Amino acid sequence: MSLIEIRNLKVHYPIRGGFWNRVVDTVKAVDGVTFDIEAGETYGLVGESGSGKSTTAKAIIGLEKATSGTVTYEGKNVTKAENRRKIDYNRDVQMIFQDSLSSLNPRKRIEDIIAEPLRNFEHLSKDDEKLRVLQLLDIVGLGPDSLYKYPHQFSGGQRQRIGVARAVATHPRLIIADEPVSALDLSVQAQVLNFMKRIQREFGISYLFISHDLGVVRHMCNNIAIMNRGRIVETGTRDDIYDHPMHIYTKRLLA
Ligand SMILES: Nc1ncnc2c1ncn2[C@@H]1O[C@H](COP(=O)(O)OP(=O)(O)OP(=O)(O)O)[C@@H](O)[C@H]1O
Ligand SMILES: [Mg+2]
Repeated sequence: MSLIEIRNLKVHYPIRGGFWNRVVDTVKAVDGVTFDIEAGETYGLVGESGSGKSTTAKAIIGLEKATSGTVTYEGKNVTKAENRRKIDYNRDVQMIFQDSLSSLNPRKRIEDIIAEPLRNFEHLSKDDEKLRVLQLLDIVGLGPDSLYKYPHQFSGGQRQRIGVARAVATHPRLIIADEPVSALDLSVQAQVLNFMKRIQREFGISYLFISHDLGVVRHMCNNIAIMNRGRIVETGTRDDIYDHPMHIYTKRLLA
């Protein structure tokens, strides 16, 4: 049994228009996606802009409703919100968002941002909570002076690391990382990626790693799926994909 199994997942958006606001068309953002992620591995999801990567991620974590298909976590069907609540899914599966500035509440101090998942899922005393937040900041290489600052007072790389600290706060089993380093300089990219690898080793985390950057994916991922227009067109190990790409779209991406 894999950690998580995605079967024939579809997310279709209705397009409404005209006088009666009728459904005139549908966007098939995700159109029958199937893959598994094993415990402890980093699974890469690659594809050009608009291919449906973020929508897949959001449907898995429950931010978008699946039109059809199933998500099975540790053998339990978590496609529906009530089933996700019954087990620790919302705590076990966390997300790092594509855009760190808009995913961190600008009016909250870093202390409250990182403590938020702890407050939702663990009942710690004020002192214990502060201790945990300080530990998390330390893990991502930020000092105690960060506690009382606001997101805009950090650099892009630092903010991305704050997003990582928040994602690992509840000791998740799986982190969905949606373009976690795309907005960063190359040198800072390496820092954040190496850091993600380190906490993976330390805590045994699995990643669904989403990117359009094949270099970064090669550095991070054991298994890779190539996505195009809502569908997976090719899957394989890192060596399969980079040394023997089969699908014409994959060859084009690599070129
Ligand atoms: N709420 C929505 N309503 C209608 N269409 C949507 C909605 N969200 C996304 N889409 C469409 O679904 C498709 C897939 O979008 P998605 O954000 O998943 O792509 P992506 O692969 O993450 O792209 P990028 O690399 O640019 O982040 C796009 O064509 C997009 O326009
Ligand atoms: Mg996206």
